[in-house]
Amino acid sequence: MPEGTIHTRDDGAVRIISIERPEKKNALTAAMYVELNAALDAAAGDAKVRALLITGTQGVFTAGNDLADFLHAPPDNEDAPVIQLLYRLAGLEKPLIAAVDGPAVGIGTTLLLHCDDVLATARAKFMLPFVNLGLVPEAGSSLLLPMQVGMRRASRWLLCGEPFDGKAALEAGLINELVEPDQLLAAALARARVYAARPQEALLAAKWLIRGHHREQVRETIRAEVKIFAERLRSQECKSALSAFLEKKK
Ligand code: COA
Repeated sequence: MPEGTIHTRDDGAVRIISIERPEKKNALTAAMYVELNAALDAAAGDAKVRALLITGTQGVFTAGNDLADFLHAPPDNEDAPVIQLLYRLAGLEKPLIAAVDGPAVGIGTTLLLHCDDVLATARAKFMLPFVNLGLVPEAGSSLLLPMQVGMRRASRWLLCGEPFDGKAALEAGLINELVEPDQLLAAALARARVYAARPQEALLAAKWLIRGHHREQVRETIRAEVKIFAERLRSQECKSALSAFLEKKK
């Protein structure tokens, strides 16, 4: 079976990171989180890189965490690669732009809360099915989603887990801009180049101010979420929901 992977390439000062496991809708395995962490570290340490762009493949951003991994190798402690990714996203100094087409499930939506700019297509399908899976929100989303889109909308999205499209995401302020699918990558790259072209010290200082007020609170929230998430992964509610998804697919 082909392994999923994380690809990186540079376009000028923009480091493009793409999630590529199309046969599984770009679902993220522990190995892919390790690669993502390495990609973020490499970008952070490379002075030539002034902006990061994260994307999926044509028609799919990511189906979120690999559900077989949740069942058989649950990320239940702070050292798990996915948890390490969350802390990296929360502490990222350089600007991060996302280009979203198709499904953006679970962490596929919550990682956007850590992005500085998000472009998506109308057919993007955002979904936060944590509770339906017997789980709880992660990535600081229990704090950041109400903060970014309001308590009412956040409650419905996080507690009911129904999908919503690009237009709803734009109206809520979860994304910045809707783009046609065939123009998504070019438009996101053009936007990333704008961030990369700004005076860098000032831009990094401004981002630090925008995010800095809540940074410690976000880390605390992630920590609290991880604890409850780990307990939920061991629950019967969760195991039944994961098995149901995986069995149905056999
Ligand atoms: N983990 C593991 N495998 C996944 C996956 C995931 N999160 N999401 C999709 N896949 C796999 C499917 O099992 C299927 O594999 P198969 O071809 O070997 O049977 C393949 O990817 C294609 O998925 P499929 O469901 O047939 O595609 P779709 O276009 O009908 O639906 C989604 C796409 C993303 C809406 C649907 O796959 C889905 O809901 N996935 C689960 C998302 C989820 O709950 N993520 C965790 C959030 S915390």
